[in-house]
Amino acid sequence: MCPAMKYSSRMNALEEGALLKAFQDSGRPGLISFSAGFPSTETYPVEEIERSLQRVMRNHGHEAMSYCSSSGYDELRRLIQNRLHQKFGLNYGLNEIIITNGSQQGLDMSAMLFLNPDDIVLFEAPTYLGAVSALKIYQANMVSIPSDENGINMQELARTLAKYGNRVKLIYVSPDYQNPTGRSWALDRRRQFIDFISDYPIPVLEDAAYSELSFDEAPQKPLAYFDQSGQIIYIGTFSKVFCPGLRIAWLCSKSELIEKYLLLKNTADLSSCTVAQYLMADYLNHNDMEDHIKRISTLYTHRRDVMVAQINRCFPGGVRFTLPKGGLYLWLELPENIDTDRLLPLAIERNVTFMEGAAFYPDRSKRNEIRLNFSNMKDADIKKGIEILAQLIRQSVSPPERATSSVNRR
Ligand SMILES: Cc1ncc(COP(=O)(O)O)c(C=O)c1O
Repeated sequence: MCPAMKYSSRMNALEEGALLKAFQDSGRPGLISFSAGFPSTETYPVEEIERSLQRVMRNHGHEAMSYCSSSGYDELRRLIQNRLHQKFGLNYGLNEIIITNGSQQGLDMSAMLFLNPDDIVLFEAPTYLGAVSALKIYQANMVSIPSDENGINMQELARTLAKYGNRVKLIYVSPDYQNPTGRSWALDRRRQFIDFISDYPIPVLEDAAYSELSFDEAPQKPLAYFDQSGQIIYIGTFSKVFCPGLRIAWLCSKSELIEKYLLLKNTADLSSCTVAQYLMADYLNHNDMEDHIKRISTLYTHRRDVMVAQINRCFPGGVRFTLPKGGLYLWLELPENIDTDRLLPLAIERNVTFMEGAAFYPDRSKRNEIRLNFSNMKDADIKKGIEILAQLIRQSVSPPERATSSVNRR
């Protein structure tokens, strides 16, 4: 860089780049990648997409290659509106839905809208690290609230709100098959959260990226379903159930906030890619999306099971995990003495990657957890990659621990 140029102070907030690394590594030939949160590319319905593109070009070529309104292509918004109603009982009006360039843009715009330097954002720990980066770059302080098998810890939430009061400007949560843990909030916890939080004038960003990837249970009602005050901003995406390459996602709000988001969207990029929106709408109108989601869920359930069986077969005692009922991730707690910072380079040397759990805590406080993506690799690679990880973990476990610990699988 030219020595006279200075970065903005915001760049100090982005010291990590673990997500960037996972994205950069993802195309490396021969790599067994359990790191990036990608759907499996072979599930992308390329032929149907090609047919949609041809139809769009034939029937709407000129409109599809033009600018679009900042709120998005009306037909696509209508289709999303109907899906949200049918699947989740959500009742958003057309003007309460904006198409965004990935749900990552919804996170970025939310930070732009609500955060000033030194404001406080509350979030579940661990949490999606792309959200942490998107919120942190606006120089907010990230304060974590522990979560358990059933969702965010309500006592801790109450205690933290009492402590920080009106410095808290945003709450970020992801109640369905969360990234990174794969856990979902129980119905009771959803109700308790909404009852409690409606007493505070704080916007809540509900990230529903994985809500449709449910393996063997009906999708849960979102927080937005219970929200009476218009406090929930709901963001969803086609990235995980269809393909991330189109970058089609949505942001919904029942309040006047949507006008502000629209201004920000217009400022950020004028509109999302028009042809991608036409293509997505055509695909939805000519194909059975629910059938597609069922098929990929069956594949991911299978891959989850292959991974779990291999972990049970190869990993040493003292490893704990919860079986995810949806989403893309398995979250593992390794024996305490394993430092995943040291484990990762050893794994990369053997052509296997994973995400260190520490990356999902802004203070990197826990060193012995890892996130494994199970959607992206074929059976043979899952088995081989897990076996390599198991060997490395065994080498790292001190002999006394190996002798005494028992496998504890939740
Ligand atoms: C929880 C969560 N939210 C949002 C995103 C961003 O997805 P996209 O921008 O592709 O919609 C991701 C991607 O991994 C995610 O895991």
